[in-house]
Amino acid sequence: MLLFHALVGLAAASQIPLQLPTMGKESTESEFKFREGPEIFTPKNLVELERPGAGVANPAGNLALVPVSKYSFEDKETHKSVWVASLDAKIPPVEYALKKGGETFWLDSKTIAHVVPGEDGKGQQVYSLGVEHSSHELTISNSPSLIGSFPPSADATNFKFSRDSDTLVFSSYVWPDANLSTIKEQDEEYEKRGNNALVYDVTYPRHWDIWRGKKRTQLFTVSLSKDKEGKWSLGESYKAPLKGTNQFVPVEPFGGAEDYDVSKTHIVYTTKDPKLDDAWHTRQNVYLVPLDASEAPRELTNGEQGATHNPVFSRDGSKVAWLEMAEDGYEADRQKIILLDLSTSSRLVLTPTWDRSPDSLAFTHDDKALVFTAGDHAVIKVFTLPLPEKLDAAEFKEVFPTALTHAHAASGAQPLPDSRILFSQSSYTSPNDLWVLTPAHADSESASSLVKITRFSESKLQDKDLSSGESFYFTGAENKSVQGWALKPKGWKENSKKKYPAVLLIHGGPQGAWEDQWSTRWNPNVFAQQGYFTIAINPTGSTTFGQEFTDAIAEDWGGKPFGDMKLGWEYVLKTYPEIDTERTVAAGASWGGYAINWIQGHPEYGFGFKALVCHDGVFDSSYNGFSTDELFFFNHEFGGPPWTPKGKELTAKFSPANFVANWSTPQLLIHGSKDYRLAETESIGAFNALQQLGIPSRLVIFPTENHWVLNPGNSLKWHYEVLRWFDQFVGEKE
Ligand SMILES: *[C@@H]1O[C@H](CO)[C@@H](O)[C@H](O)[C@H]1NC(C)=O
Ligand SMILES: *[C@@H]1O[C@H](CO)[C@@H](O)[C@H](O)[C@H]1NC(C)=O
Ligand SMILES: *[C@@H]1O[C@H](CO)[C@@H](O)[C@H](O)[C@H]1NC(C)=O
Repeated sequence: MLLFHALVGLAAASQIPLQLPTMGKESTESEFKFREGPEIFTPKNLVELERPGAGVANPAGNLALVPVSKYSFEDKETHKSVWVASLDAKIPPVEYALKKGGETFWLDSKTIAHVVPGEDGKGQQVYSLGVEHSSHELTISNSPSLIGSFPPSADATNFKFSRDSDTLVFSSYVWPDANLSTIKEQDEEYEKRGNNALVYDVTYPRHWDIWRGKKRTQLFTVSLSKDKEGKWSLGESYKAPLKGTNQFVPVEPFGGAEDYDVSKTHIVYTTKDPKLDDAWHTRQNVYLVPLDASEAPRELTNGEQGATHNPVFSRDGSKVAWLEMAEDGYEADRQKIILLDLSTSSRLVLTPTWDRSPDSLAFTHDDKALVFTAGDHAVIKVFTLPLPEKLDAAEFKEVFPTALTHAHAASGAQPLPDSRILFSQSSYTSPNDLWVLTPAHADSESASSLVKITRFSESKLQDKDLSSGESFYFTGAENKSVQGWALKPKGWKENSKKKYPAVLLIHGGPQGAWEDQWSTRWNPNVFAQQGYFTIAINPTGSTTFGQEFTDAIAEDWGGKPFGDMKLGWEYVLKTYPEIDTERTVAAGASWGGYAINWIQGHPEYGFGFKALVCHDGVFDSSYNGFSTDELFFFNHEFGGPPWTPKGKELTAKFSPANFVANWSTPQLLIHGSKDYRLAETESIGAFNALQQLGIPSRLVIFPTENHWVLNPGNSLKWHYEVLRWFDQFVGEKE
């Protein structure tokens, strides 16, 4: 009934004729409340929990800063701060509130730069903050000192500071003149153009969640130095080394500071090949350009690659390493590590056969090894790889990386000046915290050690009894070993006769994986805490189990993955008799949403789910092949564009819309209107089908959300709708 009044109010206020789809037979809103209580980790707790970003060590390697944001439903604000942690773990970390938000980075080992967003059309201001660090105390100066500002309307971000050359590098959106000083004027001119049409001659018209305009992101350099009195100052003369190249860095929509690196003299960066159409190619080239923009960029890649990521300089600046995929057009190909000597141009593929994909890359301080993270069997480990003494392809013998951690999900590994490594790690039971790893010395008996540096949410989670997840393996469709996770429901007891409802969660990608990692969107423990036996399977197409397994979903979306999930579900029901087989449900987003729509049309699989939830999923594969933003993705997965013989054949075979006649299970559809990956018409179409078939169904649209629900209030509403839907069909009936 609450919904009825809310909508009447809205209609009256805005004079919308009252036509309420929910007024028919589904008009009585069932009363639903989350399970709550001090011992339960609720959706509200998830939204309000601290969200730590990546930790960054100072040059001395004795301190790290960690940006943290925290939403509060009480004042409806997201509170931002930066924490400074001592890496010897002997002094507790300290927090500095960033009242106006903004980013921070290290100027030197005892000074932080804080870039404060500009207000009222003014430029961003940069302040320096001193950090005092003694053996028993850590303090951040509460009198920041202004050291300069950026031009009005610039949105400087992704900062990298080269102390050796007193140069700050950053990215900003600019108009085609690549001039930071004219942004404000050109923005105003555009706003006043007298219409709001968007006109396109080339793809992308829209990408991820923005309609693309003429402004693109470029790299800039500016001087940043300290005078004899110790006062820092930011220069006002900017150089645009990529101006006129048709190269844009970082690569949208997800590229960040890891798309480039800075040495004493140069920038190395990855960018989409400027000669190719970016909507149906993935090729990214790596280039080198002087910091002072005195020469044009020089390409370092050999033109035979697909995407490249994470270019990094060796500490001495003489070499560059990056991650490279072989196939243009395939975003989930295996990433190999490339090493290039800048003076001789000798090039080596360091991991020609290693069947894992590194995620991040850094040289150790002595330039003798690389450190990186990579997913391996649904966990993300820190690895190290010694570098060959000579870059000689004829003499090269592949050495396999050594795992330094073995559980959970590591990210952002940074070698410190000694042999230690700083990294962030999360798990099913904890968001990110900073850890320091001291590797074992080859020539001594000492084992490696791991020290936890921060404890951002430990006290809030310690009494919640979160499940760490049981990893299980079963024999899948292709007689391959397939992995999954089981999280027992809150209150589960050994040998109890109680039966529990179960939910199968299906991941997106499809080249992704359920990993022992914290998630703020699909957090399996949130379902387990609400009383569901929570099952997450990594079927064919999943990453971290080798490239062949990942590749095998291409051109087979409705095939092998469902053979795997069917066998996995049978395994689960056999292994956990405490699951009530009459009370099972399933949910998925993106490819997982495709999977939900596909399961609807294939009752012969025999899952027997009583209710389904599809978030931003594919309904009509063929239409999606035309309407999605990243066309390369569809073309790879369906063997070509949707009008080609193969694309046509495979979309006919694997489009959920072609199997609607078989639909019968109650289904909730959720979609964000700013989802330009999978347009909202996918869910609207599926909802229209369900409604005409008389199948209990509900459509929830988030007009301001993209492929993900990010706004805190919307995230809570999302959890409410999903858990309410399941509860209606399989909830505890008193
Ligand atoms: C940027 O624009 C300003 C104002 O029009 C102009 O004075 C300046 O020369 C331009 N800078 C560059 C590098 O083109
Ligand atoms: C399945 O794999 C197992 C072990 O990997 C092997 O022994 C068996 O013969 C295989 N079965 C089929 C049908 O390929
Ligand atoms: C419905 O499902 C059956 C299998 O249960 C399948 O053979 C048939 O092709 C499907 N028909 C439609 C129209 O989806």
